[in-house]
Amino acid sequence: MAHLLYYSASILVVLIVLFVIRNKIKKTLPPLHDNQDTLEMFRRSKQSHELALLFIKLVDMDGAGNWPPRVDHENWPAPLRPYKDIYLQLIPFLAVDVKLAYNDEANIERRRDYRASMRKLLAERVDLSEVKRVLALPEANQWTDMSREAYNGFYCCLAVCRHAYRWAMIPVVKVAQLETTVDFPPELDLPWPNLQRMFGVEADSGNNTANVLHNFDNNGDRVYKINVSLAQPIRDAEDVFFKLFYDIEDMAVPIYWSMISAVMAFESGDKRSCLRHVRNVSTHLRTLLSVFYDNLHEQRISVSVWLSYIQGFQGWGVGHYIDTKLVKYDGLSGNHVLFFQALDAFLGIGQYLTDENMSRYIPYNQRELCYGLRRHSIRNKLKTGERLDDQIDQEMSEIIKKIRVFRSAHRFRVMPYLEQPAPERLPMTAGKSVLKGDTIKEALKTLDDMMVTRIAETV
Ligand code: HEM
Repeated sequence: MAHLLYYSASILVVLIVLFVIRNKIKKTLPPLHDNQDTLEMFRRSKQSHELALLFIKLVDMDGAGNWPPRVDHENWPAPLRPYKDIYLQLIPFLAVDVKLAYNDEANIERRRDYRASMRKLLAERVDLSEVKRVLALPEANQWTDMSREAYNGFYCCLAVCRHAYRWAMIPVVKVAQLETTVDFPPELDLPWPNLQRMFGVEADSGNNTANVLHNFDNNGDRVYKINVSLAQPIRDAEDVFFKLFYDIEDMAVPIYWSMISAVMAFESGDKRSCLRHVRNVSTHLRTLLSVFYDNLHEQRISVSVWLSYIQGFQGWGVGHYIDTKLVKYDGLSGNHVLFFQALDAFLGIGQYLTDENMSRYIPYNQRELCYGLRRHSIRNKLKTGERLDDQIDQEMSEIIKKIRVFRSAHRFRVMPYLEQPAPERLPMTAGKSVLKGDTIKEALKTLDDMMVTRIAETV
């Protein structure tokens, strides 16, 4: 009896400790910010400058009145609800311990079972003609049955259902990586082009907006998780990793305001105000980058779990045939993050993604903002020898220095995550799919070269 009491007490203590650690991790995640004051300033300026208008279009159309976007994961028209239920019902079966993922035959069977379950549930519960009817209304700009927030929520849900079906097993394994096409159930395939048209994105895969930014409810909780049935450290690393991207975009809002204000001031001849706004970009940038520095390290996101459990879901690496040509798509990458593209454009640094990849992965209104910022970049309009111009130039050089340091730190920090041994898979990044090269060293060299080139371009 004494033994029994002793064991029960020990288990209780362990549970309490785990609970405290878990809550501590939750509490250290920064809360959602309220950007309404900043957005109000944008609204007041939208008539007077193209960039303010482009930003407000992004906020009011894609963001449902906020940035990062407002998303409603609850109040959907009835025909769409089964999708969320099915994702949540099947997700405990998606991820397994990596030790169970080394056998091709077993992996094929697991993939077949997962896909069969999802296909069956979708066929039983989704009325496709009703889904089409409901989704046709927003495309005709009728928001009577569904709010924009809810539309954003469904975009996320369909995207993550597609990613879950594509891999059908986490960790990502070789047999799935070697697929070139996937026969998606009609419930996952037919509505996708509607959503992609609305956002102005072309890829079969999801993107940072759909899979990450839209995956938070208005309390800042992630809705569609991946490793729900695995150990707590894996789940915590997953939460921290994706929250990081959300927080970067959240903290970017005052910087978008400062960048656009700097342009507006410069173009109206008020260089003193322009200098003040450029200084603000620099100051806020330090805080924003601290989200990256404080989170992307071993204590917050363990190197031993990231590659096998966290990255793979967001990959893609399959496509479809147009005539006899296979058009293949990549999955998500940090290179989708709006903030870094917008800042590069403001500074007049060349675009990182090709135009084709911009159209595939970056929503139309985000692209337009970046193109606008590049068109209005003031850096090459500064006149050497004029005091205020020189000061603005100097402030911009400070920003470039910070972003170069970020890119060097990013390169240094991400490599151990990519080098982590993962015998269950071929070398792959979510954003670049399966990598070419006979050894992991060769495969990663291509990525390293891309990062080195980008650092060199950051001048
Ligand atoms: C372990 C986590 C990460 C890994 C392994 C990783 C890896 C990479 C790689 C290999 C590239 C170059 C290839 C490409 O464009 O896809 C890249 C690009 C990029 N990543 Fe990451 N990344 C990670 C996390 C992050 C985070 C947390 C951010 C910022 C929120 C970020 C932002 C970027 C950006 C902006 C680019 C485009 C290149 C640039 O602007 O410098 N990455 N990443």
